[in-house]
Amino acid sequence: MTNAKLTSLMARGVDFLGCETAILCGAMSWVSERHLVSAISNAGGFGVIACGAMTPELLDTEIAATKALTSKPFGVNLITMHPQLFDLIDVCARHDVGHVVLAGGLPPKGSIEAIKQKGAKLICFAPALALAKKLWRSGVDALVVEGMEAGGHIGPVSTSVLAQEILPEMAEQLPVFVAGGIARGEAIAAYLEMGAAGVQLGTRFVCATESIAHPLFKKAFLRASARDAVASVQIDPRLPVIPVRALKNPGTENFTAKQREVANLLDSGAVDMMEAQLQIEHYWAGALRRAVIDGDVEGGSLMAGQSVGMVTKEEPVTEIIATLMKEAATALERRAA
Ligand SMILES: Cc1cc2nc3c(=O)[nH]c(=O)nc-3n(C[C@H](O)[C@H](O)[C@H](O)COP(=O)(O)O)c2cc1C
Repeated sequence: MTNAKLTSLMARGVDFLGCETAILCGAMSWVSERHLVSAISNAGGFGVIACGAMTPELLDTEIAATKALTSKPFGVNLITMHPQLFDLIDVCARHDVGHVVLAGGLPPKGSIEAIKQKGAKLICFAPALALAKKLWRSGVDALVVEGMEAGGHIGPVSTSVLAQEILPEMAEQLPVFVAGGIARGEAIAAYLEMGAAGVQLGTRFVCATESIAHPLFKKAFLRASARDAVASVQIDPRLPVIPVRALKNPGTENFTAKQREVANLLDSGAVDMMEAQLQIEHYWAGALRRAVIDGDVEGGSLMAGQSVGMVTKEEPVTEIIATLMKEAATALERRAA
């Protein structure tokens, strides 16, 4: 079920993304590969491949494989600190990828031009109003505003506060998608009414039937409640690490040990700050892989958002999207009555 109000509130996002519903499945390293991405796009949402630490060759293969599974539009998420960022941008261009999402910090010099020159639309994360304005002025085509309820790497501010700060100021200038803590259509309806062009969800899609996440990873999600998804803690003030939200498990302690190890390397001068932060990111990529792919739910990283408590069963992507749309439509109808 859908209604005219929902269709009209989603029109701008739908137009920008080129799909049927303004619901993005945010890129999730190891999870957002060909199967989930194509399933999302085939179901009328917008799938995004997580490039993560992939080489240009691997990304090339993944895009080609995704294209073989869907003729619908999908995007590619690139991490700004990837040492071969510009080669990855070239790979996207060769495949005529329509939307590139840059994550992990402000776009490095030349990257905005390189992406847009080849005709792709560029989506960036705006963690604060000042940065949202800056990104818009630099030519970014759309923004994702992601609060600290989200799974994976997070900023310090909640979705509800960021949405109130950024939507009234920026929604007229460019499409803004809201992310973090969204698992039901009522919340989607609310953010659309506040001016969002659409929403981005991650956690809600991890247990989709089409997601290749290990059965034990999915089981951990199905069992967890909101308070189990906790942010990692920075132990050394000299080593600023971006917090990561994940389900608490014995592996959570490993991150503390890793930070100590990297802080010692910094102290001894064996690595500089850039290299130290790269080591931390490699740690997360490896820990997430162990949990998602190998099913090591004790030692690996179970990145998950606070909305994990609302993930209650494994179900096909079409059903998840239909449920979200129905809930959003019902909420809007109730308000109109
Ligand atoms: C397991 C997992 C891995 C993620 N990996 C990435 C990533 O590689 N790049 C990225 O930009 N965001 C990543 N995210 C964030 C999602 O794209 C999305 O923005 C977020 O999950 C939305 O919040 P929610 O989890 O509350 O729905 C990840 C999230 C999860 C749960």
